[in-house]
Amino acid sequence: MKPILTPLFLPLFLHIITVHVAGDTSPIYTPVDDITLQCGFSGNQLNPGDNRTWTGDINSKFSPFPNQAVGRSSIYRQAPSSSSVIQVPYSTARLSLYVFTYEFRVTSGQKFVRLYFNPVSYGPDFDRSNALFSVTAGGFTLLKDFNSSVTADASGSDTIYREFCLNVESEQSLYITFKPSRATSDAYAFINGIEIVSMPNYLYYTSAQNSDGVNYIGSENTFRIENGTALEMVYRFNVGGSSLLFNKDTGMYRKWDGEQDEYKYLDYSSKKFSVLPQNSSIELNFTEIPEYSAPEELYQTGRSMGMNKTINKSSNLTWEFPVDPEFSYLVRLHFCEFESDITKPRDRRFLIFIANQTAEEAWDIISRSRGNGRPIYKDYVVFRPAGPVES
Ligand SMILES: *[C@@H]1O[C@H](CO)[C@@H](O)[C@H](O)[C@H]1NC(C)=O
Ligand SMILES: *[C@@H]1O[C@H](CO)[C@@H](O)[C@H](O)[C@H]1NC(C)=O
Ligand SMILES: *[C@@H]1O[C@H](CO)[C@@H](O)[C@H](O)[C@H]1NC(C)=O
Ligand SMILES: *[C@@H]1O[C@H](CO)[C@@H](O)[C@H](O)[C@H]1NC(C)=O
Ligand SMILES: *[C@@H]1O[C@H](CO)[C@@H](O)[C@H](O)[C@H]1NC(C)=O
Ligand SMILES: *[C@@H]1O[C@H](CO)[C@@H](O)[C@H](O)[C@H]1NC(C)=O
Ligand SMILES: *[C@@H]1O[C@H](CO)[C@@H](O)[C@H](O)[C@H]1NC(C)=O
Ligand SMILES: *[C@@H]1O[C@H](CO)[C@@H](O)[C@H](O)[C@H]1NC(C)=O
Ligand SMILES: *[C@@H]1O[C@H](CO)[C@@H](O)[C@H](O)[C@H]1NC(C)=O
Repeated sequence: MKPILTPLFLPLFLHIITVHVAGDTSPIYTPVDDITLQCGFSGNQLNPGDNRTWTGDINSKFSPFPNQAVGRSSIYRQAPSSSSVIQVPYSTARLSLYVFTYEFRVTSGQKFVRLYFNPVSYGPDFDRSNALFSVTAGGFTLLKDFNSSVTADASGSDTIYREFCLNVESEQSLYITFKPSRATSDAYAFINGIEIVSMPNYLYYTSAQNSDGVNYIGSENTFRIENGTALEMVYRFNVGGSSLLFNKDTGMYRKWDGEQDEYKYLDYSSKKFSVLPQNSSIELNFTEIPEYSAPEELYQTGRSMGMNKTINKSSNLTWEFPVDPEFSYLVRLHFCEFESDITKPRDRRFLIFIANQTAEEAWDIISRSRGNGRPIYKDYVVFRPAGPVES
């Protein structure tokens, strides 16, 4: 199934202890590029889920084109109607037994590219189980020999989406190519929706001004996430809170899964640690990180080991996330200390282990954030070697 990019990064977005503010809902960040494409559709369609207009790729500036040497056009089909699948962008698809490419005019900078898939049978000639393909964009292989039906079945949901971050060096066209695998003659490629959204520079990438880079777990070195790196999102959680869907984000339409999903990844002995009650009287103060980093709601909730020293000193609060081996992972932990009796440095200190290695020997949120109610985050990069699965 692997290897994909060199190196591919899979960010894991966790957030641990957090706060609240009752806020207005206008987006904090407005993306320069905000492209929403419903493949195999003609016209424009409002998506009630995100309040954006999704444009069809039929007879539009977004129509895909075939490889010149191959010359066979892609076709479009309607998905069988289903009450459980949301309409936009999953109700129609672009498919082909041959390679096809989309061209998007975008500005330079770092982007989210999101690919949406509804793996159903699109007629007898496009059986669900025959979809097997690779996707490349801007020189990166985003998906390789992607078996969408088996991926969806494994995830337990009807539809799936994949989110990537990549950098577009200069104002140019971003080409996204879908290529059926050679494995079988009836293998085909398909896509239901494509989304391209700008992000603030260096939200995840390391800026040239930052001489430090990211802590590289298990190494004296730091790690720089530079333009030649693409990232794939694997987990993103609002720990101890509800799921935050597209419009609840700061303007980039990221999806943050909620406590119901996050809880499943706690190891057995950690399930006893409770979700902190929200305190809506605290006013968040973004002095250390930009406000677009994560939604305020994310910092309004959290999970705590509690104030019983006997218990909190003798146990760990551990999440166990299955990941693919032989990739490096960016792990971003979000914190906001909002319990009212924790206001000074040393009021609460704890260790952080990532992949059983010490990432922080005495993590002190207040020392880092310089106060109660101030959101911060900290990044780490960890390499997951080949070999038996571990936490
Ligand atoms: C979509 O916009 C309408 C009108 O501005 C608003 O009432 C509604 O809450 C919005 N929906 C979402 C999901 O944000
Ligand atoms: C990385 O790409 C950005 C544009 O997204 C550009 O401004 C920056 O100079 C590039 N950095 C390097 C080191 O090439
Ligand atoms: C995708 O995976 C499923 C389940 O393993 C398998 O039945 C199917 O043949 C695969 N598709 C292709 C085109 O290899
Ligand atoms: C909620 O926050 C306010 C303002 O910081 C504080 O005065 C109050 O004690 C907090 N309530 C709880 C239950 O922690
Ligand atoms: C946020 O912190 C700054 C710097 O310490 C301070 O000047 C400001 O009053 C604070 N704002 C709020 C709303 O607490
Ligand atoms: C702390 O937890 C221990 C072990 O469960 C218990 O015996 C003790 O009474 C608790 N202390 C307080 C102050 O609740
Ligand atoms: C554990 O409980 C003690 C005593 O209440 C408290 O000072 C400390 O901050 C707690 N530690 C954590 C990691 O919550
Ligand atoms: C907590 O996790 C670390 C790292 O995996 C381990 O060394 C330590 O023994 C654990 N502590 C407890 C109390 O389980
Ligand atoms: C990491 O810690 C977990 C839980 O403590 C343990 O099951 C696993 O074997 C450890 N892995 C390694 C490589 O030490």
